[in-house]
Amino acid sequence: MSELATATRSPELALANLYERIADCPNCPLARTRTQTVPGAGSPTAEVMFIGEAPGQREDEQGRPFVGPAGRFLDELIGVAGWTRDEVYIANVVKCRPPGNRDPEPEEIAACRPYLDEQFAILRPKVIVTLGRFSMQRWFPDAAISRIHGAPRHLEDGRVVVPMYHPAAALHNGSLRDVIIEDFRALPGLLAEARAAEAARRDAQASGATIDDGPARPLPGQERLI
Ligand code: URA
Repeated sequence: MSELATATRSPELALANLYERIADCPNCPLARTRTQTVPGAGSPTAEVMFIGEAPGQREDEQGRPFVGPAGRFLDELIGVAGWTRDEVYIANVVKCRPPGNRDPEPEEIAACRPYLDEQFAILRPKVIVTLGRFSMQRWFPDAAISRIHGAPRHLEDGRVVVPMYHPAAALHNGSLRDVIIEDFRALPGLLAEARAAEAARRDAQASGATIDDGPARPLPGQERLI
């Protein structure tokens, strides 16, 4: 679908159209081993989007993201932020299950990237939360999650990206549980900031002024990325 078509359809219709195309996708070897595709789920008007890695066995059976043990913990974390699963949007970098839950291959991630890009174009989330290293790589390619988790990056278009540990990491390493919970607690404040920034940008556009956001400031450990 062209960007114009994406922008002029309702998000519900645009997502339904996208899900149909994902269901028929033959673009990588995972198409031959999947039970069904797992395109994403949640509110078509969500302001917050969570991006995981890839479907596991339960997700492959049910066609919905994060329905296994990691998903139950993600629900709890979304609750810590004061939201429900129905108010946010959840997707994965890769829409089909890698056999045996192995890591997705670079070609599989590349084959799925246009679908994730289209989800961003349809939803235009104000806050994007990456869960684990595969979704983090897009914005923080060489960073270590242990150094940057919870630290927001403000993109030029006003969106905020927040790298988080994957919920499954806390299931395997109990000491990370409190760390992830604290990181999720900060999300409502970041959303409030992103909303205010967007309102200021709209006001400035309406009055013909420009906003000087000042020089980009690197986060600890990201000095090379800016
Ligand atoms: N389930 C998903 O849908 N994605 C993950 O990254 C892990 C479990």
